[in-house]
Amino acid sequence: MCHTLTLAEIALEPHTLWYDVRNRTPLRDATLVRYRPLVAEDVDDLTAFLESLSPATRAWWYRDSYDRAGAEALCAAIGRYDKLRMVAVDLQRPAEGLLALFEFSFGIPPGDHFRYGLYGVTLDETRDCRFGPCVRDDWQGRGLGSALMPATFDIARHFGRQRVFLWGGVYAENHAAIAFYRKHGFAEVGRFCTEDDRVSLDMIRDLVDTSSARMV
Ligand SMILES: CC(C)(COP(=O)(O)OP(=O)(O)OC[C@H]1O[C@@H](n2cnc3c(N)ncnc32)[C@H](O)[C@@H]1OP(=O)(O)O)[C@@H](O)C(=O)NCCC(=O)NCCS
Repeated sequence: MCHTLTLAEIALEPHTLWYDVRNRTPLRDATLVRYRPLVAEDVDDLTAFLESLSPATRAWWYRDSYDRAGAEALCAAIGRYDKLRMVAVDLQRPAEGLLALFEFSFGIPPGDHFRYGLYGVTLDETRDCRFGPCVRDDWQGRGLGSALMPATFDIARHFGRQRVFLWGGVYAENHAAIAFYRKHGFAEVGRFCTEDDRVSLDMIRDLVDTSSARMV
């Protein structure tokens, strides 16, 4: 693919961004996972995914609602606004539903420009994008998130982005996620206090040296 992708193109042709990746884990060897854009037909599976999330996961990955209304809102947003949502499914066990939801935002709100500006980092909507991952509880810590990251970086590059930064930062107490981000090349650029009076880290990842993942 040599041209810069658009969200409208992906809404029309979601298979353009299908990635089949092997998830090598000690629990289930070499599970074949398809990482693909969310589609309108996912609403039931997305409802089940949101409803399944534990209080601990909800505390790290905040939504307005974790129910059918929330799932319908995300499906209705496909191809509109500035968001791309990718999901992961087990190709050998599709009945398992959605294993993960990884989100991109290609618009950068003024608050992020301001906060990063305080760190001396100038964000550019044409070169940078926001990213936030959530893996289903029973799949966390099994290598799935890591298996999806090369494709995640590849997608950002296909949208013409050269850096990825965390959508809303990551809570300082979310040690697992911070270790995950560090492992995948994100660097802390600063800390800020959230509306609920907690400390969050802003982290950014340069994509210049990221090797491309293979699309199906
Ligand atoms: C953060 C998250 C996306 C990571 O995905 P994952 O599939 O669980 O991560 P992986 O199994 O690929 O682990 C990769 C690395 O992350 C870190 N990590 C993952 N789980 C961890 C845990 N429970 N404790 C400490 N480190 C952990 C480790 O560095 C690990 O590398 P290692 O296996 O070599 O030790 C996932 O755990 C998640 O969705 N958590 C809940 C929601 C959330 O916190 N989202 C981020 C909001 S900012």
